[in-house]
Amino acid sequence: MSVKDSVLKILKENSGSFFSGEEISESLGVSRAAVWKSINSLRSEGYVIEAVKNRGYMMPSEKGFITSDSLRSALSAPYRDNELYVYDCIDSTNMEARRLLLSEKAPVHGAVVVSNQQTSGRGRLGRSFFSPQNGLYVSIIVHPDFDINKSTLATVAAAVATADAIESVCGQTPVIKWVNDVLCDNKKVCGILTEATTDFESGQIENLIIGIGVNTSTDSFPEELSEIVGAVQGDYSKSALAARIIENTLENISELSSPDSPSFMESYRKRSVVLGKTVKVYKGTYRKNPAEELGGITAKVLSIDDNGGLEVIYTDGSREILTTGEISIRL
Ligand code: BTN
Repeated sequence: MSVKDSVLKILKENSGSFFSGEEISESLGVSRAAVWKSINSLRSEGYVIEAVKNRGYMMPSEKGFITSDSLRSALSAPYRDNELYVYDCIDSTNMEARRLLLSEKAPVHGAVVVSNQQTSGRGRLGRSFFSPQNGLYVSIIVHPDFDINKSTLATVAAAVATADAIESVCGQTPVIKWVNDVLCDNKKVCGILTEATTDFESGQIENLIIGIGVNTSTDSFPEELSEIVGAVQGDYSKSALAARIIENTLENISELSSPDSPSFMESYRKRSVVLGKTVKVYKGTYRKNPAEELGGITAKVLSIDDNGGLEVIYTDGSREILTTGEISIRL
């Protein structure tokens, strides 16, 4: 085991307790400089390691509290200088992103708002998003240089980005439930809400705010949510997870500028938990058979098109491509 891995093991196994550099170096039989180098390297990978004079090093027992410093050091080179607005607690990162866009700060493309807790988290279809402390709430500001018709793919880009980040940082294998729920072990661990700001004069979309909420702990979740909502498991740093989510999302978004179908659509299909399955379709405006609407309409999912649309076939043989918006489905 490398010195770095041994240092990590000691800090993890004793998370919440301080160890001096001397204690670590003695127990591993290496120099203090080697310990110090390992600590720096672990920090640059996103591990939160606190250092206090006369006490030593300590890894917080939770998955870490995100700060501007911890997030910046977890981001890789091309993104390390992005504008970051990090809060312990805020009403909603999407709302803060909107306020920033309207303020003189005028954040540029790729600016990010992150919070460890939200008091008024916003969900899809006007719902709220339960956002207790120890969570991960991210909003990414995008100034689209792509055709506005592709805006719905921004949510798909973020869903794939988040699933990939969870897999690489936390070691779980998430699936995606159309259109934007990321699930681990059959429970929703992440929801995504993309909102747009429009130019008052032209009515054109000026900015997209991609809001991503990841449950990193269910400690304070109400009992009634426990059947459907879970948290990303594993021994990981929230800063590292946030950093990968941000990087992956911005990389996927950059693909929307090309006329070609974005490569993340393939990953989206691979991770889809609905492809080939029988689902219930719920449409607020569906009036063909209102009695059936209450329980949803049974359909089989045939494919996902390049715009993220879901091609379904109903029991009467008719087909339809469902687009995002007022529709929800259940497996
Ligand atoms: C949903 O599943 O309904 C979408 C939930 C989106 C929640 C995220 S958390 C970060 C961002 N800020 C918000 O207020 N909402 C989004």
